[in-house]
Amino acid sequence: LQSLPRMKTDVAVVGAGIAGLYTALQTSEYADVVLISKKGLDDSNTRWAQGGIAAVTAKSDSPALHRQDTLIAGAGLCSYEAVEVLVHEGPERLKELIAYGTEFDRDEQGQYELTQEGAHSKRRILHANGDATGAEIVRALSKRVMEQANIRVLEHHFAIDVVTQDGECVGVIVQKPEGDMFFLEAKATVLATGGAGQLYRYTTNPDIATADGIGIAYRAGARIKDVEFIQFHPTALYYPGAPRFLISEAVRGEGAILRNSNGDRFMDKYHPQKELAPRDIVARAIVSEMEQTKSSFVYLDITHEPEELIKRRFPTIYNFCLQYGLDMVTDWIPVAPACHYIMGGVQTDLNGETTTRRLFACGEASCTGVHGANRLASNSLSEAVVFGHRIAQRIKQLPELPDIRPVRAVSEYREARKFSTREQRVKLQKLMLRHVGVKRDEKGLLKALTELERMGRFYQYAAQDRETFEFLNLLNAAVLTTRAALLREESRGGHYRNDFPNKDDLLWRKHLIQTFADGVQ
Ligand code: SIN
Repeated sequence: LQSLPRMKTDVAVVGAGIAGLYTALQTSEYADVVLISKKGLDDSNTRWAQGGIAAVTAKSDSPALHRQDTLIAGAGLCSYEAVEVLVHEGPERLKELIAYGTEFDRDEQGQYELTQEGAHSKRRILHANGDATGAEIVRALSKRVMEQANIRVLEHHFAIDVVTQDGECVGVIVQKPEGDMFFLEAKATVLATGGAGQLYRYTTNPDIATADGIGIAYRAGARIKDVEFIQFHPTALYYPGAPRFLISEAVRGEGAILRNSNGDRFMDKYHPQKELAPRDIVARAIVSEMEQTKSSFVYLDITHEPEELIKRRFPTIYNFCLQYGLDMVTDWIPVAPACHYIMGGVQTDLNGETTTRRLFACGEASCTGVHGANRLASNSLSEAVVFGHRIAQRIKQLPELPDIRPVRAVSEYREARKFSTREQRVKLQKLMLRHVGVKRDEKGLLKALTELERMGRFYQYAAQDRETFEFLNLLNAAVLTTRAALLREESRGGHYRNDFPNKDDLLWRKHLIQTFADGVQ
């Protein structure tokens, strides 16, 4: 039996977005931490977050209002307790982010500037450098992480599987950049691996968003919850040769309107909050307009707002569009929905612990219950810090690990198989876009599931290269999402069925949970 070389730490954190960086900093106050990042510290989903971070800071606002907005957006499936935690603890965690060096934008009087996004009843979103909030948070937190002597950062290292012994997680198998693997033994392991945008052909997420946390936790036997709920951001740039770059909802918050390809404003036909309706409603309205006008995009128009406001508030978006000859001050911007966020993920309790002891999940990889069937804009960065803090408190109380048995190489418990990864990945992304996208139905979901299952019994296979491991995680998550979408015969939040267009509270105000151990597979 080939056992892996071993390294030891107190806390292993996988992922270097806001959830990973923040949890690493908080746990480093009392423990040694190893932070594993599959790319560099500056490469995460957080890095691209534009709109901001939602937390109550204004006198005219209250946790009760933030709670109400979150629950309404979540369409009946939020955990009330988790939302309570978010809205009450968010402001404290925001102060910590500031203490760690994050600089949010202020007005001339020195007060934090607050913006508006869809389904918020108040202006409560802080932002940085106009529309580059995530980049500023990552800058500040990674600087602190690098200064912290007891955090060891392993960049370009890839987490393959966590290891369980007698029902609890005892660490993680890591692949070095050169390809060798080792076992990182840890008293606690935190999956802060981010989202799953790469499930779809069109996404606002970077290449790294490959559902690694869902794949790893599922194979370890932890519960995966609510993964049929996928949020499509209504306004990603749609322009020949340009990536699906996010055009922040804050642009609509500052007055932009949507027009169909005939130039007609349309959101008043769909919702009283018009352009600032919940995201799922705006995304579906856009798709309906695209269908009716036989167009593959609609327009976002902010040309009626002052040039100074546009350039000051949205420098990143303005400059990005300008590279493609689109000037937001004078031009309508062509946009279409793109996959943005997965509401479900690895189920956790209120302390971020999964159903596998000593295994934690934080940020987009997790399902804390805060988002329900649809996430309120800018709640994700707040969720990461609120639950990252709780995870750090909980890990402090964990007893020491028992003696750990030798850990086998992945190739000894999974069968080696070579995929033509690039081709398979594109095939998966097209299937998901076509059949498990903004609008779904039984026929398409069945087709997608059959095709995905034909691609391989993902949980059995080992690989040598990182791209193939990522593909296996995507395949894992794609099957779980499609299966849950097929089972849920209603429409709610980020899950819409053409064949069941209504919400069914009687039968479906419940969660779909999948585990490997149940043999759902
Ligand atoms: C945006 O800026 O529109 C994205 C904010 C979010 O996804 O919460």
